[in-house]
Amino acid sequence: MRNPSCLAIILAAGDSTRMKSRRSKVLHPVAGRPMIAHVLDAISEAGVSEAALVVGRDADAIGTAATGTNVQIETFLQSERLGTAHAVLAARAAIARGYDEILVTYGDVPLITGATLRAARTALADGSGVAVIGFEAANPTGYGRLLVKDGELLAIREEKDATDEERLIRRCNSGIMAISGRHAIELITQVSNDNAKGEYYLTDIVEIARARGIATSVVDADENELAGCNNRQDLAAVERFWQERRRRELMLSGVSLIAPETVFLCHDTVIEPDVTVEPNVVFGPGVRVETGAVIGAFSHLEGAHVSADAHVGPYARLRAGSRLARGSKVGNFCEIKNAMIGEGTKVNHLSYIGDAQIGSGTNIGAGTITCNYDGVNKHLTTIGSRAFIGSNASLVAPLNIGDGVIVAAGSTITADVPSNALAFGRARQETKPERANTARKTSRA
Ligand code: UD1
Ligand code: CA
Repeated sequence: MRNPSCLAIILAAGDSTRMKSRRSKVLHPVAGRPMIAHVLDAISEAGVSEAALVVGRDADAIGTAATGTNVQIETFLQSERLGTAHAVLAARAAIARGYDEILVTYGDVPLITGATLRAARTALADGSGVAVIGFEAANPTGYGRLLVKDGELLAIREEKDATDEERLIRRCNSGIMAISGRHAIELITQVSNDNAKGEYYLTDIVEIARARGIATSVVDADENELAGCNNRQDLAAVERFWQERRRRELMLSGVSLIAPETVFLCHDTVIEPDVTVEPNVVFGPGVRVETGAVIGAFSHLEGAHVSADAHVGPYARLRAGSRLARGSKVGNFCEIKNAMIGEGTKVNHLSYIGDAQIGSGTNIGAGTITCNYDGVNKHLTTIGSRAFIGSNASLVAPLNIGDGVIVAAGSTITADVPSNALAFGRARQETKPERANTARKTSRA
């Protein structure tokens, strides 16, 4: 059998009032990435490559946030917010192209997995005309309740329209559902707004379908996966669920997180097995850590590649373009930016290394600073292999320091140093015997 064709419809026209934000809520990040992009990834994992995005505002910004996923999107504007069925019909032109399946998702439910969406598609393949993703709510207040009898979904009752008895039901509607493409328009156009909120409820299609002899079903999923974001508190809860899920995956894949609840990951963080991450580490975007590396406590990394067996921190900051070669070490209170730290090279204490290339087996003394910025431009510092940079050196870029060089502690180096040279760039020390005592006497007099 050929693969059924499927169009995802993402509802994102809500006015985000409770977020109290200038931006649509679907642009707010979870794990460093707009919510809408998470939803598109799940859609893609469910084998769907086309999506209609129903938005009320910020159409361009939402469209931009949605690029860079594997899903081709088309944006539809719902200018009046008349309910979820009305929102789906904003994408009517796309539905009318004819798909075997329509998958309705929400832009503000970002943790939905591809597996759950696929389960809803499978329910259609197994004969349902409408397959609703449901969950057992710890607190069902505000959700539509699933009226299920003998395993069959009879109806979805919105809270405001429910009887006291129906409100006791804890099995709730996530809002996400798969609809047979053959029936979608016919069912949704039958929905009226004759209810407590005066809205066109998409949920009404369950009863409409059953009245026509079309089968309906529930696909159960985990409540946390279906968490929505209405305000900043919800956003923080969703972030927490995402972090918990990712930490668990990493640990099961062989990464040691000593205090997992204190490690913050980004959507694209890659950590190989046998890496140890100590407590209180933050990963920003674009980090890759190879096997055997240790990320010490209180380190902050972004845009960094940490090679095998390298050691970072505690208290290190790796910024964009940091590349640490195998077995290198960046210690406490060091900042690295756009710099290559060669194999086995050590930058152990209190240094700033920016816009630099350092060879292998070099030692960068405590407090070394690459002076990379002249107030207008950034300049490069290159340091060879097996060099020794004494403590508190200022390396004024552009600068080339060769292999095997020794730079004396406290030097300000402004000119290139050829390989194997010893460079001093500091005032010669003067020592006056007994002058300390003379000075003290003068002061006291
Ligand atoms: C909806 C469901 C409810 C379910 C709950 C899960 C209906 C009638 N009710 O209720 O059964 O338990 O979600 O959270 O469907 N939207 C639009 N345009 C509109 C209306 C809504 O784009 O005109 C979007 C919103 O941005 C949101 C989603 O649809 O992403 C759900 O809308 P919302 O108003 O939050 O629905 P609920 O009343 O919470
Ligand atoms: Ca809602």
